Amino acid sequence: MRTAVITGGAAGLGADVARRLSEAGYRIGIFDLGAERVAQTASEIDNAVGIEADVTSPEQIAAAFEAFGETPDLLVNNAGIVRFGAMEAQSVQDYIDVVNVNLLGSCFCAREIAPAMMERGSGHIINFTSINGIHPAPGVGLYGPTKAAMANMTQAMAIEWGPKGIRVNAIAPGMIDAGMSKPIFENPKVRAVRGGGVPLRVLGEAADIAEAVLFLDSEGAKYISGHELVVDGGVSTSVMAHLPRE
Ligand SMILES: NC(=O)c1ccc[n+]([C@@H]2O[C@H](COP(=O)([O-])OP(=O)(O)OC[C@H]3O[C@@H](n4cnc5c(N)ncnc54)[C@H](O)[C@@H]3O)[C@@H](O)[C@H]2O)c1
Repeated sequence: MRTAVITGGAAGLGADVARRLSEAGYRIGIFDLGAERVAQTASEIDNAVGIEADVTSPEQIAAAFEAFGETPDLLVNNAGIVRFGAMEAQSVQDYIDVVNVNLLGSCFCAREIAPAMMERGSGHIINFTSINGIHPAPGVGLYGPTKAAMANMTQAMAIEWGPKGIRVNAIAPGMIDAGMSKPIFENPKVRAVRGGGVPLRVLGEAADIAEAVLFLDSEGAKYISGHELVVDGGVSTSVMAHLPRE
């Protein structure tokens, strides 16, 4: 049975990834904040164990992997936060929190488990980036910059750990009608304008991201490493389509 740890898996995209991998036969570890909500989500998923852990704490991460009881085949660094507001208006604490959770949290989880994966000679890490890391959006402070740094970190880990049998990839979701973006798309006007701006003319679903995780972790993707897979209906490549024409 393949095993996967999903950080931030108690809700949003991570919970869907956990559900989809469980359906595909994986044993699942969910690391997230809040003992009750972690236990609740895990109880709804076959073969899942929920472990309360803050990814910004190397001690809690080490304890969580210990509690999971085995080196997972796959680590999904999905836990992430965004703080909305103008760059100059965000607090110093906002900047620190976003860097800590998104960039350092993912790094801490990967560095905790990579030695055991290397010893085994196999492992796969998927970092959740964002199209904001490729094309900056206004009003999200250091969110995009942390995702850009995570994309570079993905490549750095892939070249350092590849020789020891570890693949490291990233998934960059676009505008997904789930998780942290769901409240944005509850406004019908925003939903119509943003959805209409996607070449495929539709917002993404959590399932689109979960399927991408399953594909990247499949045997068919065994030669893919250091790659950032953009799952966005084409929106991040569509700037020319939005320029006025005669
Ligand atoms: N939803 C989207 O449209 C979208 C788009 C691009 C990228 N992403 C990325 O996908 C990932 C999941 O986002 P989501 O939309 O499901 O968000 P979400 O807010 O619904 O879920 C994030 C989860 O991470 C957990 N988390 C936050 N801080 C944590 C910490 N310190 N330790 C452990 N867990 C922590 C939260 O408790 C929550 O369960 C994030 O990395 C996000 O940046 C999402």
